[in-house]
Parts: sequence; C-alpha cells; structure tokens
Amino acid sequence: MNAVPRTVASLIGGRPDTDAPGGTFDVPNPARLDEPVATAALGDVTTFVEACRAARAAQVAWARVPAPTRGRAIQILGRLVEDNAETLARIMTREIGKPIREARGSVQEVVDTCTFFASEGRRLYGMTVPSELPDKQLFTFRNPVGVAAIVTAGNFPVAVPSWYLVPALLCGNAVVWKPAEYAPATSEALAQLFLHAGLPPGVFSMVLADGPSTFEGLSQALDARLVDKVGFTGSSDVGRRIGELCGRHLQTPCLELGGKNPLVVMPDADLDLAVEGALFSGFGTAGQRCTSLGTVIVHERVHDEFLSRLSRAVESAAIGDPFEDVLYGPMISSRFCERFLGWLDWIQPHHALSGSTGTGRITREHARQGFVGDPDAGLYVHPTIVDGVTAGDDLYKQETFGPIVGVASFEDFDEAMTLANGHGYGLSSSIYTTDPLNVFRFRERISAGMVSVNNSTTGAEAHLPFGGNGRSGNGARQSGVWVLDQFTRWQAMNWDYSGRLQKAQMDVGDVSADPSFRLAEP
Ligand code: UN1
Repeated sequence: MNAVPRTVASLIGGRPDTDAPGGTFDVPNPARLDEPVATAALGDVTTFVEACRAARAAQVAWARVPAPTRGRAIQILGRLVEDNAETLARIMTREIGKPIREARGSVQEVVDTCTFFASEGRRLYGMTVPSELPDKQLFTFRNPVGVAAIVTAGNFPVAVPSWYLVPALLCGNAVVWKPAEYAPATSEALAQLFLHAGLPPGVFSMVLADGPSTFEGLSQALDARLVDKVGFTGSSDVGRRIGELCGRHLQTPCLELGGKNPLVVMPDADLDLAVEGALFSGFGTAGQRCTSLGTVIVHERVHDEFLSRLSRAVESAAIGDPFEDVLYGPMISSRFCERFLGWLDWIQPHHALSGSTGTGRITREHARQGFVGDPDAGLYVHPTIVDGVTAGDDLYKQETFGPIVGVASFEDFDEAMTLANGHGYGLSSSIYTTDPLNVFRFRERISAGMVSVNNSTTGAEAHLPFGGNGRSGNGARQSGVWVLDQFTRWQAMNWDYSGRLQKAQMDVGDVSADPSFRLAEP
C-alpha cells in the first residue's frame, strides 16, 4: 500500500480549496504510527461561510429538479460506492483503524441508504385530504428545508454522514458537510463519489476544518441566513452548544449524541448468547460507537457465572492489526486514545477488573496475551471489564468511548430499570431474557430510542429510525422514512374551486339526525 501521504482539501462548488488558511493536520495510520495516511489542508471560518453561500446559490435550482431525477443521482451514488467499496473500506481501516470486516459493513450501510432513498425520489408522498366544504380540496406537500450544514464524527466516517447527506440531497436541499478532521482521507474519498454522481456544483460541498472554526463559521452562516438546518453527530456537550446556537435562530437541529447504553441480563437469559452480545457490544470497534455497551446490568443470581464467562471471552478475544480477523484494532487517533486513558482514572478501589493482562496501553512491555501484530507500532489499549459499578460512580454516569464495560448487579426488575435509565442518556439498550413479559416491560420503561432483544446494543439497520432521547439527543430521528421530517417541511394547501368564499368552520353543513332515538325493549 502507498505510504506517501496525500494532501486532501475542502471541496467547494466541486473544486478543491488547497489554500489551508486553517493550517494543516497530519493523520498517521493509528495501527502504524510511523506510516502517514493524509495531510488535511484545513479551511477556516470564511471557508465554511463561503461553502454555505455556494450552497444557497445552488439550492433553488436543485429543488426544481424533479425528485425522481434527484433519486437517479442517489442511485448512481449507490452504484459508485458499491463499485469502490473495497478501496473505500481499506482507506477507512488505514486511517481510523476500524477492522476491515466492519469497515466493509460501514460502506455497505452507505449503499443500503442509497438503495432506500433512490426510490424515495419516486415517492416523497404528500396527501390529498378531504375538505369540510364542498368543491374544495386539501393537499400536503414536502418542501426541502434549504441549506443543510452537516457536522459528523470520524468513528463512522462514511455510514453516519450518508444518513444525513443522502436524504437531504434527495429531498432537494443543498448540503455543506464538515467531516471529522481526523478522518480526512476517508471523507474526501466519499465526497469524490458524491461529486461524481451528477450533483450540480455548489449542491454538495465538503469543508475540512477544526471544531472552533466550524462553530464560528456556523454561527456566522446562521446570522447571514445561509443555513436552514443543522445536523450534528458527536458529544453531548458540543450538541448542547449547537442546540443553543440553533435555538437562537428558531431552528431545530438534528442532534445525535452520546450514549451509556445498558444491557440487562435477566436470570432466565441464555447466558452464552448474552456473553456473545456483551463482547461485541462493548468491545467491537474498540467500544468507539455511540451505540457501544456502557454497563451490563445483571441479575444477582447469574452475576458470578455471567462475569466469569464474559471475562473468559474478553481475555481470549483477538485484538490487534485491523487488517486481520480481530475483535478490535487501535484507537481511532491519539486524541481518542488519550481521552480513554483519562477515563481509566474513574476506576475505584471498590471495583474489580478483568478482561486482559493489564489496563491502559498495550505495548511489548505491557503485553496482552495473543495480541495480533506489533503493539508498539500503534495506539492499542487493553479491554477492561469493571465489576461492582454502582449508580454513584462516574463510570456509571458518563460515556466512556473505548473498550471498557461496567458490570452492575440488581435484585428486582424495578432496580434494573432504575439503573438502565438513571444516567439520563437514552440512545440504545438491550435486554437478554426468554420471557416475553420482561421484553415488553423493558420496552415500555426504557428511555432509549432503540431497544434490542437478545441482541447487541450496536448494529442498527439503515432503514429503522436511529436516534436518542435525553442526553443522547433532542428526539430527532435519522434513517428510513422518519428522517424525511428532518429535511423537509410540510406545506398545507387548500384549493376552493366553488367560485365563492366558503368560510371554514362557519359555512359547514351538518347531518340531520335524531340523537334521542332508542331501541324498543324486545
Ligand atoms: C455511531 O456510533 O455513531 O448501530 C453510529 C450501529 C451503527 C452506527 C453507529 N450502525 O452501531
């Protein structure tokens, strides 16, 4: 594989902007830190605002393109992604260390999203609605919102952006996409595929910039009325600031934030299945999914058996080179790695640790048995199971984006639900049980937007609503038909063809009835 770093730049109005007014950012392969992957030429506040201006100029004409033709562009995009799938997956694995099999799955999620929305171009249904007056008809239409500014994280550098970009474009919006600056090569590759799918210049732009420039650019673009909708996937703290900013402009952003996703193990659960689910939920992708497992909440009767089986499974899991068959590879970048090491400080004396031969960085000195590859070359960390987690612990209350899973035990169902909801996040959740009563009680009482039954907390499918509540988001939903409400506004139309002014509620006819009628006794 080519070891020469590529310089990648913002793409505005279809052209690269290589000026780098925001400086440059070097991205190494997190599995081999001495191998450069890309240098990002970063834009600044002006770059962001100018991209929004180009989007504003292009949007009206794009909205006038018939929706089935916009759907055709999405269909071609899906084919381009499919035909470039392996290259895109390999760029991703090299840039953010996602195991190659998962990277291929993420690319497939883009294809699935395109498949779904290509034909939505032939639906985008409104309704015809009967009027209360004669010779009058009511209709509803979905109108595009305008310009959408989409800011995404780098842990899912193609799948999650596509959940915003594809439906936004299909609905007739122009988009400005600000991907994570630590995944520029993958983002630029995806952006090139969008640009080759036949979108007119300005309808799709990508801005590479750091967080502060993006926030200021967004603020100025909102002031200049160049942005009508913001989509953001990232931390709850930044989401709160974006929500405040948009609120000042009377806008509701689409916020997809963090999670502390519980996995409840009932005493009647199939324990091997629950262990398999907890292993993948908690440690797959090195725990770097917003849907990753936070705390296992296990009934006290099966706690010891569950913990010993989970510990064995984690201890023997393959970790290492992401191009090999491993459960997880390196942390996404040094920033993710450092933050994770900081969260290990939340481990308290009342906790008991298992899952590996150590905690923190995996190195040759601080080895992990069965490690695949050279641990010193990359940003690898030990998986950690923390037993004895209680509701007062930071490890219970806060998201920890990495391969660490808490275990808490409960006596009765009420206590399990209090633990499952008590941290205030509400993204994903899971219950392992063989009793349908537990399933439906859990579904009703869990505050999360997504519920798995006998399955991982991760792995949402591309056509079911994705999103959370509380600290996990503002109730916005992505994917499937549900996301259409993010990128369109309903317009109601009435047409009175009676030739006279008929007043609603006042000129309405009635039925002539006899409400005092009663049946005779037999
Ligand atoms: C995320 O972590 O931001 O459901 C998204 C899942 C993936 C998407 C995760 N399909 O785990």
